[in-house]
Amino acid sequence: MNILIVDDTKFNLKYAKNILIENKIDCNIILANSGKEALAILDSEEIDIVILDIVMPEIDGIEVLKNIRKNTKYFNIPVIMFTSLTDKQALKKSFEHGATDFINKPIEPIEFISRIKAAIRIKKYEMHLTQTLNTIKNQNEELLALNKKLQETQYYLIQKEKLVAIGQLAAGVAHEINNPIGYVSSNTETLSKYIHKIKTAIDKYKELLHCLNDTNIQSEEIQNKIQELYALRNNLHLDFIMSDIDSLINDSFKGIEKITKIVQSLRNFARHDLETDFNYYNLNDLVEETLLLIKNEARYIVHIEKKLNDLPLIFCNRTQIGQVLLNIMMNAVQAIKSQKREEEGLMEISTFVSENYIVCEISDDGPGIDKNIIDKIFNPFFTTKEVGTGTGLGLSISYDIVVNKHAGELLVNSELGQGTTFTIKLPIKAIS
Ligand SMILES: Nc1ncnc2c1ncn2[C@@H]1O[C@H](COP(=O)(O)OP(=O)(O)OP(=O)(O)O)[C@@H](O)[C@H]1O
Ligand SMILES: [Mg+2]
Repeated sequence: MNILIVDDTKFNLKYAKNILIENKIDCNIILANSGKEALAILDSEEIDIVILDIVMPEIDGIEVLKNIRKNTKYFNIPVIMFTSLTDKQALKKSFEHGATDFINKPIEPIEFISRIKAAIRIKKYEMHLTQTLNTIKNQNEELLALNKKLQETQYYLIQKEKLVAIGQLAAGVAHEINNPIGYVSSNTETLSKYIHKIKTAIDKYKELLHCLNDTNIQSEEIQNKIQELYALRNNLHLDFIMSDIDSLINDSFKGIEKITKIVQSLRNFARHDLETDFNYYNLNDLVEETLLLIKNEARYIVHIEKKLNDLPLIFCNRTQIGQVLLNIMMNAVQAIKSQKREEEGLMEISTFVSENYIVCEISDDGPGIDKNIIDKIFNPFFTTKEVGTGTGLGLSISYDIVVNKHAGELLVNSELGQGTTFTIKLPIKAIS
């Protein structure tokens, strides 16, 4: 602790210093004989407390005090004024300019020491406070850095979760695509056999035409050719082939359309422009796309019922809302699956408009959620699923997407043993 004592009377300086030493005040004492010298010392050294005489030639104590309070380096140093009892006016002025305390002259050792001790104590508190403040500032910076890191980790986990979900669904999608591919390829095979037979018949017709054009050929031979053609028509089942061709081609077109749809849905889920994918979409389309993806997972476990009402387009991020629907529907399927029932469970999906919101309700008749944990299901990493099965991120990501990214609401209502309903509400007006 550095204490600067300023007085133009050398005796006072010496006397004050001696009292401090005699009372074993743990400090470094610096003396200044004038206001000018005091300001120079303040500029060049770290001073903690100033004891300042008021009446001095040239720069008096009040001027020094004003300079101290103006200077950003040491404006808040405690300044104790040295004053004689007759100096009341000057003392008043000192306090107006920010003096901390005063000590009467002539110096009375007990008063002097107790005032100095009080000033030292205040200074120590202040230093402690500054130190604490700095620690808090540092900790705050560390926390900010940690928060940033956490956000990055969360983003990474979201990506990972998405990949896992896509991985799980890939098998289902493969199954979905396999079926139409199966009948498109069998139809093509049948069509190729039909074409072969039709070609054989056409060749026979060509022969007949050739005979009809040749005047040397007898009509009996022509009759034979015609009979052969009739026989061929019967043997090759040409009438049936002609009636079957249209339905084969139509079925194949339907199959190709189905495959195109599934591939399109998968592409929508695998898109990379996650954050910028905002546009006007119909929520019913997103529901249908998601259903295509979970269909295989739900087979034999959940019967799905849809009540999709007409909806206005909504400004939203297609990939993100798709992810929310997928998470919630997958949870419902998994919840029902966990019950290992004999008969299928039920998942109902309804969409409708309510006031300024588009609402999508996804209900299941699964096990329901215990009241003790319902408050936690939106927390990151909360899961009741076996280790390695669920990451516990599905609902927390969904909540972030609906509430923070779309200014909507994500609500849950559940009755243990009865089932669960998740309600997604998205505001109809565009997000600016
Ligand atoms: N439809 C539901 N029925 C019953 N419980 C549910 C349902 N939906 C969610 N839960 C409960 O909420 C928990 C958290 O769900 P969330 O989707 O966040 O994580 P998860 O499904 O466990 O794992 P992840 O989605 O990462 O694979 C689940 O573990 C489950 O206990
Ligand atoms: Mg989940």
